[in-house]
Amino acid sequence: MKKNVRLTAILLAVIVSLCACARAEDSEDKTGSVEEEKIRIGMCFDSFVIERWQRDRDVFVQAAKDLGAEVNVQNANGDIEEQKKQIAYFIEKGMDVIVIVCIDSDALSDSVKAARNAGIKVIAYDRLINNADIDLYISFDNEMVGTLMGEALVESGLGAGSRVIMAGGSPTDNNVSLIDSAFIKVMQENSIEIIDMMHCDGWRAELAAEYVDSHRDLVSECDAIMCGNDNLASQVVNALSVQRLAGRIEVTGQDADLEACQRIVEGTQLMTVYKPVEKLATRAAECAVILAKKGSLTGDDIGSIGNGKGEVPYVKLEPLMVTKENMDRVIIDSGFHRKDEVYLNVK
Ligand code: BGC
Repeated sequence: MKKNVRLTAILLAVIVSLCACARAEDSEDKTGSVEEEKIRIGMCFDSFVIERWQRDRDVFVQAAKDLGAEVNVQNANGDIEEQKKQIAYFIEKGMDVIVIVCIDSDALSDSVKAARNAGIKVIAYDRLINNADIDLYISFDNEMVGTLMGEALVESGLGAGSRVIMAGGSPTDNNVSLIDSAFIKVMQENSIEIIDMMHCDGWRAELAAEYVDSHRDLVSECDAIMCGNDNLASQVVNALSVQRLAGRIEVTGQDADLEACQRIVEGTQLMTVYKPVEKLATRAAECAVILAKKGSLTGDDIGSIGNGKGEVPYVKLEPLMVTKENMDRVIIDSGFHRKDEVYLNVK
């Protein structure tokens, strides 16, 4: 009997000490692991079809890494339901911050609410998210983008009586209405007639090409086609060249894609708008880390904008007009594209 009691006591002592060891190992895991202390950012992209977004991603991820954060990047390929699922996944994973290039500016109120309820900060990157309690909207001055497109047409010689067609971007992208209305204002101020307007759902450039193909009479009567970005301009110029109109009808764009810069120096596109995405991505990464550490955003560049829910912090960067005349200064000297690449097809 006594022997049994002794055995049980020894067994108990062994179990207790084993448990203690296991607990010690557990806590060592937690405190020893640097990974778990890292700031974690989830970044949701619309798609990577357009050249610029890869640059945005690469610069953001590197800048965040330099600040001690790690970034999980998701791509919704233009599908808003997929984007909602990706945001839900980031909420489930307990990210510190979610950075979103939204596909539909009016469709993410519930997703943002769910993230905020989980204590996660939300940044609207490049495109505003309406009716949502976001922590920051960071973008370029999109009204200025539209104004620069209009001014370039006026500087090229369009004036009273000139006729313009608008081929705008996705109607669900908040930037598009800002660009359109600023562009229309310049047209009105200069008595330039807008003879037609179309929009490309999901920024699908083939829709702009199809428009040019199927509206030959109208197109042959116009002096310029305002294209919402360089990808649309690319397809429009191709479609115009089939009708032997490339270079005879002015075309605008934005993003300073390499091919657009090439078309500008070759003479088939009038202008583009350069948006230094390095600045945007770097500043966004800095703000994301500050928000993750529960800091408040300060600095001369922090303004505010109404998004239907209230005033939200807004960082607005300046876009620049690019033409044949200032290509070298704006694009090449800044290192955005190399000179030999831009002038590849020009002797
Ligand atoms: C961006 C443009 C881009 C377009 C298509 C807009 O929201 O501001 O730079 O070309 O989306 O992705």
